[in-house]
Amino acid sequence: METNEIPIADQSVDEEEIDLAPTEEVLKNLPDTSRSHLIPTLQKIQDIYRFLPMPAMELLMDFLNVTRAEIYGVISFYPQLRITEPGKHIIKLCYGTACFVKGAPIIGDKIHDRYHIRPGETDDTKLFTLQTASCLGNCGAAPMAIIGEDTHGNIDPEETLNILGEYKLDDTEAPAIEEATA
Ligand code: FES
Repeated sequence: METNEIPIADQSVDEEEIDLAPTEEVLKNLPDTSRSHLIPTLQKIQDIYRFLPMPAMELLMDFLNVTRAEIYGVISFYPQLRITEPGKHIIKLCYGTACFVKGAPIIGDKIHDRYHIRPGETDDTKLFTLQTASCLGNCGAAPMAIIGEDTHGNIDPEETLNILGEYKLDDTEAPAIEEATA
């Protein structure tokens, strides 16, 4: 396997039964045990499992000789790193200035009313995790959101709920929603 190739884990998210082979492969391919690998390796592990399972982090701690406190210090500094399993679809709602003044907080409130989640939370069915972003790079289409793999611009609260309503827990593919960008 190439050094930069990220193996895909089995779908289990039970931390007791988690497949650690992909993490072992990532660690095996590190050129050395320098702590400079900590952040990129955390990102690779998260890419495998969609979050950072404790058994995988314990392997990483041993390999790089870092403490649990150091790992959690890094994780708490980077909001994109997660120690809990996210919902099936991640909603990145832009709270940058342009989106904020064009109504992103109202959209966030609507999402809360429907799914009872605030930024950083996952709904009870584990369908959605809500995150905020400081700028999604397309301020001309504010307010913006990325839902799963799809980018949506010029959204309003009702439209956002309609878009979210297309996502189902048992979907095998993202819904066919027309992208709305500038
Ligand atoms: S502020 Fe939202 S895309 Fe830039």
